[in-house]
Amino acid sequence: MKRRLENILVTGGAGFVGSNFIHYVFKNTSFCGKIINVDKLTYAGNLENLQEIDNDYGGKRYFFERVDICDFATLKKVFEKYEIDTVVNFAAESHVDRSIFGPKDFVQTNIMGTFTLLEVSRENWKGREDVLFHHISTDEVYGSIEDGDYFYEDTAYKPNSPYSASKASSDHLVRAYYKTYNLPATISNCSNNYGPYQFPEKLIPLMILNVLEEKALPVYGDGKNVRDWLYVEDHCRAIWEILNKGDVGSTYNVGGENEWENIKLVNFLCEKIAKIKEKDEDYFKKLINFVKDRPGHDRRYAINCDKIKSKLGWSRRLSFEEGLDITIKWYLNHQDWVDRVRSGEYRKWMEKNYKAR
Ligand code: NAD
Ligand code: DAU
Repeated sequence: MKRRLENILVTGGAGFVGSNFIHYVFKNTSFCGKIINVDKLTYAGNLENLQEIDNDYGGKRYFFERVDICDFATLKKVFEKYEIDTVVNFAAESHVDRSIFGPKDFVQTNIMGTFTLLEVSRENWKGREDVLFHHISTDEVYGSIEDGDYFYEDTAYKPNSPYSASKASSDHLVRAYYKTYNLPATISNCSNNYGPYQFPEKLIPLMILNVLEEKALPVYGDGKNVRDWLYVEDHCRAIWEILNKGDVGSTYNVGGENEWENIKLVNFLCEKIAKIKEKDEDYFKKLINFVKDRPGHDRRYAINCDKIKSKLGWSRRLSFEEGLDITIKWYLNHQDWVDRVRSGEYRKWMEKNYKAR
């Protein structure tokens, strides 16, 4: 049965990956339907990320609804109003450190929110086969692995933080709805993303901005934890391929095949920015400060993404160097965005612009 893929409900579209996905679909694909962005606008949601899309498509092919994905009644109305045939569930609490200090919101949004979305989809779609619920997840559900090992789609789940445990739970619910109710569903588990619009609490934007502002660079523990980095647009293209060609009931691992120890990555960023700023690289490297480790800090993540490569023809397009150059330039050229996010002004901007509609 052919998928309809006309009215896409994107949850968490005002966040980092979600807003990049909306940009990607409007600018890089032949999609001619509608995207309905449903977002609660937590601290991580920023409508400014979508200003350009709103200017070009707002009210015609792009719509925003401020909704909590835990709110069944309002979600149901949105489903009916826009005749939703596809869900792409990005909405989540996404930062591991925050999950350690306050796990409750993670359980609420990541587990209860996904459950609520699944229920609304099941009730609304009533056994239809031309629809799809795509759930965005993370490689962190697999836990930490030794050198030389990789995460495969059938690797057992072993989450270690409240964040990854809540994501693992939501993945299981999605799988259960497919198996039990035949809800057409797919899941993708991706490695660490970087790129424009990433909230500067995450490693790469935090380090770029701290280097530029000549502030301390806090590296957790011994700095030898390993992450696999992927440019966000490559992740968005993988999601688009799954929406179009992914097998119902399947999971796809998405990764950059690009492992870096944190300390090597921070040194590399210092070298790159030193070149741009015409400074000696040691000038920035001196800012590196080893700090107390993150509790339960996973040592190494590494994705095997052979399945999505062979089945859907996807592979990473940007090298790490190219992706980092674009990202550093983006933060350098978007000082207003950075200032508003760092000062909290973006909240006021959103309230003003959102209410004005
Ligand atoms: P983010 O924190 O930047 O954005 C999350 C968005 O969800 C925000 O706009 C926020 O307002 C919204 N949101 C939060 N709670 C909500 C709720 N209850 N109802 C509606 N909206 C709500 O996160 P991100 O980095 O863009 O991650 C997006 C998704 O991708 C998450 O599911 C995350 O687990 C997954 N993921 C992220 C990465 C990464 O490296 N960033 C990698 C793999 C998977
Ligand atoms: O692997 C995918 C996951 O990647 C996503 O599911 C998460 O949503 C996303 O936040 C990210 O999780 P990480 O915990 O890997 O990302 P973060 O940027 O917080 O940290 C990356 C690594 O850098 C990690 O080993 C911790 C370390 N770190 C992080 C920060 C913020 C530091 O050493 N210093 C820091 O200040």
